[in-house]
Amino acid sequence: MNEMTKLKEPDVTKSDRPLPKAGVLDIAAYVPGKSKGTHGQTLHKLSSNETPLGTSSAAKAAIETVAQNLELYPDGAANELRDAIAETYGLHPDRIICGAGSDEILSFLAYAYLSPGDEAIYSEHGFLIYDIAIRAAGATPVVAPETGLKTDVDAILARVTDKTKMVFIANPNNPTGTYLPFEEVKRLHEGLPAHVLLVLDAAYGEYVRKNDYESGIELAATTQNVVMTRTFSKIYGLANLRIGWGFGPGHIIDALNRIRGPFNVSGMAIAAGIAAVKDREFVTRAVEHNDAWLPWLTGEMEKLGLQVTPSVGNFILVHFPDEDGKRAVDADAYLLERGCVLRQVGNYGLPNALRMTVGSEQANRTVLQHLKEFLGQA
Ligand SMILES: Cc1ncc(COP(=O)(O)O)c(C=O)c1O
Repeated sequence: MNEMTKLKEPDVTKSDRPLPKAGVLDIAAYVPGKSKGTHGQTLHKLSSNETPLGTSSAAKAAIETVAQNLELYPDGAANELRDAIAETYGLHPDRIICGAGSDEILSFLAYAYLSPGDEAIYSEHGFLIYDIAIRAAGATPVVAPETGLKTDVDAILARVTDKTKMVFIANPNNPTGTYLPFEEVKRLHEGLPAHVLLVLDAAYGEYVRKNDYESGIELAATTQNVVMTRTFSKIYGLANLRIGWGFGPGHIIDALNRIRGPFNVSGMAIAAGIAAVKDREFVTRAVEHNDAWLPWLTGEMEKLGLQVTPSVGNFILVHFPDEDGKRAVDADAYLLERGCVLRQVGNYGLPNALRMTVGSEQANRTVLQHLKEFLGQA
């Protein structure tokens, strides 16, 4: 192959090439958080809700062991990881499925339960992977408006038709950080027909400190149409390894296992996940860190006159003034110049807000100082 062939694609008309199935080209590809600032300064990456505490040293050690035998396939059923999760969360391992991130479990659910012509509902500012998974399965997304940046149960129920097959809720939701109390989740479930699958995505469940919150275990354990998804990417500090899991009725887990790739979770991920889920001290430290810095950040931002949506996760949604030079895009550019990477959320219908992960003490204080300067209050 010469250099030109490598660089230039031949001119072909649409009829001369394979075309993706209907709907695929309507999908807006997921845009991950930026991971680089504009200059070489100390970088504070606060754009993807990763933990500032790194990774459990037990999980790192477990990876080293697997690294000695990379030529062997992993255990396709991730038995030991499912056992470890089951023990930690008090569940039955047969009702757990592991995936390459919880994104993969969400896709499995859409592929297994949605067909062209079906509708699936998610909430106005809901996590964007739902839209991608629904469309990729050939189904039609239906967006339910939120009230005060919170999932609105009545708005969802009002959009249920005889085509509705699934409802996706992130609880707490990303990027708003708001949550639905258990009573509301139960009301939503009770209002859905029995054949509609309710997916409760609790990626940030471990961070929530509210008595009226329940991550989804209860309904997934006791009903026939609820699945809860969880992740090792956030509080467990294993985003890079891609591990997520779902818990639900046996008949749903069985269906998902039939479309799962036979070795979808790597051996390193399995080993690290087992060690991480057992390291409760690491998780406690992460919760304590969040408990200290989430209210601090919220309060300090409010003192600057910025509105912050009350969050129960490890991130906050900060709203900027609708003034030239002071909007979210301006703040984002200002912070980026100074090595602080936050997340623009215009694609979530929130063009004048930024989402910020609760970072290390140094990162939190640095962002705050820069925002003070940005707003002319330093
Ligand atoms: C609400 C929510 N669900 C699911 C995920 C997917 O996480 P992962 O695929 O890393 O498990 C994320 C990641 O940002 C999220 O915010």
